[in-house]
Amino acid sequence: MTTISPTTTTTGPAATPAGPDLAAVKAKQQRTWSSGDYTVIASRIVLQSELLAEAADLRSGDRVLDVACGSGNAALAAARAGTRVVGIDYVPDLLTTARARAAAEGLTVDFQVGDAEALPFPDASFDAALSVFGSMFAPDHHRTAAELIRVTRPGGTLGLVSWTPDGFIGDFFRTITRHVPPPAGVASPLLWGTRDHLATLFGAAAAEIRSVERTCVFRFASAEDFTDTFRRWYGPSHQAFAALDDSGRAALAADLTDLARRWNRNPDGQPVALPSTYLETIITLRATAT
Ligand SMILES: C[S@@+](CC[C@H](N)C(=O)[O-])C[C@H]1O[C@@H](n2cnc3c(N)ncnc32)[C@H](O)[C@@H]1O
Repeated sequence: MTTISPTTTTTGPAATPAGPDLAAVKAKQQRTWSSGDYTVIASRIVLQSELLAEAADLRSGDRVLDVACGSGNAALAAARAGTRVVGIDYVPDLLTTARARAAAEGLTVDFQVGDAEALPFPDASFDAALSVFGSMFAPDHHRTAAELIRVTRPGGTLGLVSWTPDGFIGDFFRTITRHVPPPAGVASPLLWGTRDHLATLFGAAAAEIRSVERTCVFRFASAEDFTDTFRRWYGPSHQAFAALDDSGRAALAADLTDLARRWNRNPDGQPVALPSTYLETIITLRATAT
């Protein structure tokens, strides 16, 4: 079977340097996020970026980086606060949409193609760095965290939003990887949705780490509508369907629809409302390097 999904089903330890070829994994992930049209899904999660920008307490004039910005949700939220924002992502088409959104709102944001694991900025370039469901997907967790720390000034702020392993989206990724196995030995992105893993990644550089679990609700006309929407537009599920034969596609569609029925909090069946838990974390970096 093809290994395309960017996730693993476990939340085990991060991969070692002697493990999988992370560059190959990342190249495959880049193709995954370029498929479908993530913009359609991003428009349903604008609120998480707005809440993060507020929690990060951005100040007008701050230099802010949005890592793995997609079509620009967090970058635009930061720009609305009067900050000077750079957004980076490795999918150029998403940046084209992000630029159009900024222009439509009369906001100035510098959107650049870049890799979360090798940020193209000197040390201490930003007062704050944000990443909404973004840095969690880069395969080398330690390198990604080190880059966020490096480009943010001492005493600056990191703001992270990541899906939790035990929430609806965690279950969604486990459902996909039951049908299309992930690359062996790559650490689960869902680890970023746990306090322990964030302490491992950021503890040495942090003066304070504050996390809060929040729940957003995805709403669809029906469980089938959820499956169709994520199949068509969301790269990870779009690519999973593409990797399967006809019977595999039917089985994955049935399991995703069943997933939505199980998580639906509406007692009368439809429309469906899917509560989805994520971890919002604000990290204040130490004022001096350790
Ligand atoms: C779930 S989307 C989130 C996008 C955006 N932050 C939002 O809130 O809508 C994940 C994004 O991470 C980007 N991404 C994943 N790994 C990346 C990497 N190593 N470098 C740059 N972008 C990456 C993908 O292209 C995609 O836009």
